[in-house]
Amino acid sequence: MKEAAAGRRPGPNEPCWCGSGHKYKRCHREADQGAAAPVVRQRFVRPGRVSPPRAVPPGIRLPEWARTGDVSDADPDESVVQPPHVVQRMRAAGRAAAEVLRTLERAVRPGVTTDALDGLAHDEIVRRRAYPSPLNYRGYPKSLCTSVNEVICHGIPDDRALEEGDIINLDVTLYLDGVHGDCSATFLVGEVDEESRRLVRVTHECMMVGIRAVKPGRPVRDIGRAIEQHARRHGMGTVRAFCGHAIGERFHGALQVPHFDDPDAKTVMRPGMTFTVEPMITLGTWRHAEWDDGWTAVTADGRRTAQFEHTVLVTDEGVDILTLLPD
Ligand code: MF3
Ligand code: CO
Ligand code: CO
Repeated sequence: MKEAAAGRRPGPNEPCWCGSGHKYKRCHREADQGAAAPVVRQRFVRPGRVSPPRAVPPGIRLPEWARTGDVSDADPDESVVQPPHVVQRMRAAGRAAAEVLRTLERAVRPGVTTDALDGLAHDEIVRRRAYPSPLNYRGYPKSLCTSVNEVICHGIPDDRALEEGDIINLDVTLYLDGVHGDCSATFLVGEVDEESRRLVRVTHECMMVGIRAVKPGRPVRDIGRAIEQHARRHGMGTVRAFCGHAIGERFHGALQVPHFDDPDAKTVMRPGMTFTVEPMITLGTWRHAEWDDGWTAVTADGRRTAQFEHTVLVTDEGVDILTLLPD
């Protein structure tokens, strides 16, 4: 098992651990002073054994990739303003995705494998006569994404058992009545260290400040600006490589919703638009690396990262969260 000393500090003139490219003494050195040097050696997450794809019972409506794995390109000019009959179906899909996520939360504990969580997600989704959208999406092998500790997103469920002190993001997307609902949350496994709890709390706040920035007439850029500002205020990084996305009859529509302040995010929000807000926030660098499974994205420095996601609708007044449960 590969191990690394967590939190070894760079020399004053070495590049800062946060990935900014600045010298340590000009960047995080001061912030680090006072905190005791971590002595815990933290194990990185390693790829495990992946079970065969789970079967979908007959009679469930399949998205285009279910049989082939192929996803057609989004039309860059497609309107993301959805007609009312689509919004109505998206409320049902969003609610169902949120219910599945709630059920998964109750199953998170030390000793449970991410494969078992995948099985539970799959069963809960098909029980609702929906299709687990990730399954065979561009060849993705499972029904759920399970991203542990330094895994940013798209972690593939396998035979790794959750350990006391882990954090895990579970990302549920399902396809119901021709539309997708997409949401995720990061959960604590047993007793978790203070810094990771802070990461998870701030990441949830980042999602909520992003959602609060959703207003008709305002550019999409407002969302990422609010998120990045909140993360920076807490000394945390904002992942840039993965964005929120338009969602509806397509899983990933053409519109991208960056979680950082991106001057190119000029699209003006209009009532009837549906997209996700899903910030990935890190304790260190925002830079990522990818496992050779072609999916699993990890932080480049191995420090922990968290994510929350909702599917939202732009309304005349502001925003409606479609993946929120009534209570
Ligand atoms: N649910 C993820 C998102 O938020 C996408 C997962 S695609 C998969 O966009 F293929 F990795 F499952
Ligand atoms: Co998702
Ligand atoms: Co999404």
